[in-house]
Amino acid sequence: MKIMVVGGGGREHAIIKKIKQSPLAEIIYALPGNAGMRDDAVCVDIGAKDLDGIVAFAKEKQIDYAIVAPDDPLVLGAVDRLNEIGVPCFGPRANAAIIEGSKIFSKNLMKKYRIPTAQYEVFTELQAALAYLDTVSYPTVVKADGLALGKGVVIAETKDEAVSAVRSMMEDHLFGDSGSRVVIEEFLTGPEVSVLAFTDGKCVIPMISSMDHKRALDGDKGLNTGGMGTIAPNPYYTDAIAKQCMKEIFLPTIQAMNAEGRTFQGCLYFGLMLTPNGPKVIEYNCRFGDPETQVVLPLLKSDLLTIMMACTNGSLAEATVEFSDGAACCVIMASGGYPKSYQSGFEITVESGMAAEVYFAGAKESNGQLVTAGGRVLGVTAVSKTLSGAIANAYENVGKIHFEKAHYRTDIGQRALNALK
Ligand code: AMP
Ligand code: GLY
Repeated sequence: MKIMVVGGGGREHAIIKKIKQSPLAEIIYALPGNAGMRDDAVCVDIGAKDLDGIVAFAKEKQIDYAIVAPDDPLVLGAVDRLNEIGVPCFGPRANAAIIEGSKIFSKNLMKKYRIPTAQYEVFTELQAALAYLDTVSYPTVVKADGLALGKGVVIAETKDEAVSAVRSMMEDHLFGDSGSRVVIEEFLTGPEVSVLAFTDGKCVIPMISSMDHKRALDGDKGLNTGGMGTIAPNPYYTDAIAKQCMKEIFLPTIQAMNAEGRTFQGCLYFGLMLTPNGPKVIEYNCRFGDPETQVVLPLLKSDLLTIMMACTNGSLAEATVEFSDGAACCVIMASGGYPKSYQSGFEITVESGMAAEVYFAGAKESNGQLVTAGGRVLGVTAVSKTLSGAIANAYENVGKIHFEKAHYRTDIGQRALNALK
């Protein structure tokens, strides 16, 4: 089969490495991919948001199956456009991708179908939002409605912080249009768990759980980022909690989307918080997480491509989805300064004898050398029988990769290790 993967980051590299193992995959194109994945896919210089370019390419190459990985093209309707020309896709159509595309949609969905989440109010008028801030307790959480690259969420410790967050979204349009409507919600506490789940719209099969580390610096300090590292499985996510989540969150969400005429097919990401009052949904994503994918897929024993196609054709209930008993750890190596401004163009060298997977994200080729070209440059994933083994292996291999001003956290997985003790 001729496969096309839309996207160009570490998550896409992990997906590509996995489907490459499938006997069904003959050739894999990445649109646009990046220079670090050239050994695994044919990179084509078409941007992930260039829907016309994507459709034209699929037609020209007679693509048999497409995997649309990032949020933007999904929300923009890449799957709808590819389906129109007869190309089957992994990923939701636009009317279901809205579960990530609009926080207001997802909050209202959860309220209507009684899916546990933080209490909230929606505001379209600045004055009403400011008045509401007089009535809430602190900390409180202010969120821009639309996709804001994970940056549209502010945990405000005080009313002053909340006021300036609301003003920057609604008055100064810091996040563009996505801030013209805001959600103000209750601050929840508890360990966070990411659960990615395959679904064909009828049945839902959760993958192994994971834990992201979103803040830039050790000890969960510094700014929020796209994710600085992950581990799987997440020790807080016990079998009992998994059962509860299936009953109270996963199945009700799939059924709610069906009832709304928005059947979701693909990977649905549940960002959960295990609060003292039970698991609650912090956010939905309409896609694989990054860098969760970089620890979840290396532990998948079954054929990913077969599972994906079962999601597309409605036969997921008959598919085999098995994970190994081991653990995985992914450490992200970023450009110093990320998520704020940083320099690029530094040569990346990888010593021989790597005993871990390297998933490239912000990398490009310049004068025949691989150089840095983004905030998150790459992720190093190690798999082991135990979590402590996976963490040790990941860091040992991080030490074999060099580029100027590299920044990574040194404590990925420590919180999970402490929880196991
Ligand atoms: P999101 O982009 O919605 O995933 O939010 C980014 C991060 O903000 C989450 O991973 C949480 O750590 C935190 N967060 C979001 N909503 C809440 C909430 N209601 N209570 C506490 N923390 C939250
Ligand atoms: N790692 C969080 C996300 O993919 O949104």
